[in-house]
Amino acid sequence: MTELHADVVVVGSGVAGMSVALGLATTRDVLVVDDGDGSTRWAQGGIAVALGGDDPRAHAHDTVLAGVGLGDPEAIRRLVEEAPHRVAELVARGAVLDRDADGVLLRSREGGHDRPRVVHAGGDATGAEVWRALHAHADRTGLRRLRGTQVDGLALAGGGVAGIAGTGPQGRVTVRANAVVLATGGVGHVYAATTNPVGVRGQGIALALRAGAAVTGMEFVQFHPTALATGDRSGQLPLVTEALRGAGAVLRARDGTPFMAEVHPLADLAPRDVVAAAVLRAMRDDGTDHAWLDCRDVDHVGRRFPTVRAACDDIGVDLARDLVPVRPAEHFLCGGIATDAWGATTLPGLYAVGEVADAGVHGANRLASNSLLEGLVYGGRVAAALTLELPAAPPGPVTTVTTATDPALARTAQTLLETHAGIERSREGLAEAESWLSQRASLDSTCLVAAAIVRAARARTESVGCHRLAASRTLAAAR
Ligand code: SIN
Repeated sequence: MTELHADVVVVGSGVAGMSVALGLATTRDVLVVDDGDGSTRWAQGGIAVALGGDDPRAHAHDTVLAGVGLGDPEAIRRLVEEAPHRVAELVARGAVLDRDADGVLLRSREGGHDRPRVVHAGGDATGAEVWRALHAHADRTGLRRLRGTQVDGLALAGGGVAGIAGTGPQGRVTVRANAVVLATGGVGHVYAATTNPVGVRGQGIALALRAGAAVTGMEFVQFHPTALATGDRSGQLPLVTEALRGAGAVLRARDGTPFMAEVHPLADLAPRDVVAAAVLRAMRDDGTDHAWLDCRDVDHVGRRFPTVRAACDDIGVDLARDLVPVRPAEHFLCGGIATDAWGATTLPGLYAVGEVADAGVHGANRLASNSLLEGLVYGGRVAAALTLELPAAPPGPVTTVTTATDPALARTAQTLLETHAGIERSREGLAEAESWLSQRASLDSTCLVAAAIVRAARARTESVGCHRLAASRTLAAAR
């Protein structure tokens, strides 16, 4: 057993975790623990930020609308007002964003935005560049890291959180710390098919639930409307960024009809929950397992979207000439561990940031490209809070709560969520899923997280944003 100490231990090394760690690097003894790279590296579209003639209030307005009014106005105001500063800080840390010949940042348009507002890198490789820059900066500054270590326990003492426990290349490891920051990303592989990389499966949520921290908004699981339909029914599906639709790509049904214009005034650039539901409907109407994205009129499409082009090449689809098969897949958890304006959870000593957290910015449905932004802004806020004041080490004996894994139970949980807690849900399906999952929640962390999702979905009796109730007949047909 390896026993370590730190002022602050950050679990996760995506944009949120690294923003916390780099913000604390000169003031606190900080240790970053991770198990893989997380979702940041896979983000394509970019970072939403009101620059130039744009107005943060317009960005806030679009964020509120996309979230169907359930976001916290103050949390959203902080997000959009602090965005320009945090994007400038990201550039200062070495991120190379796309610019025009005069050096002005290029901005693309995505769903739910009233104008081009999304800065990006490498065309559609924004997450990879953000990840590279933050990790290179961490290497330069000599940040303490513990890589390849899976955290499966939280140490509790005196009514608060006192550290973590996990397993890595060195065997069992514990870290005692004044503050633990969970930045573990979303719930991706709690579902069968997701755009998230392998390894993202709600670990932070499971730890928080075990420790007794409050979680909110768990029913708001966002499905990206255009994952690449590779033919695989499960696992990680490549993303087909919605910046393509911002550049003119159009969703089409089997007979070639564009179907978004009749669904929403913003047509293909409607908020993501609306587009995902429309794609599902088109698939049902056509009896197909995907719809089609027509990118043929997008100028220089292969050069501007190299990540998507490569994924299409892999399945023998020519992005510039062919219609691209797309289908919805789990993408983002809008809710999560309840936090205040500084990332503090309901448990002393425990903080959460990024996708794992519910800071109140997304409401019922996240606005496109607000996720990397949330990591930057709220990561900076957690760092500021812990710079100002470090929680006292909790007194008394330490007990450790741990999460369990059972691969067979996890697989069944994935299928149940895909069937009963997808884009459309029915009361009967949710009840059936909750009954099975809650009986197994103590045996497997996927069941634990899945049970929290269906419990929240059962409690939400109206359709709103990512939570859509449908007739049970429809779901039965889909099984
Ligand atoms: C995308 O590029 O379509 C995804 C960006 C996001 O998740 O906001």
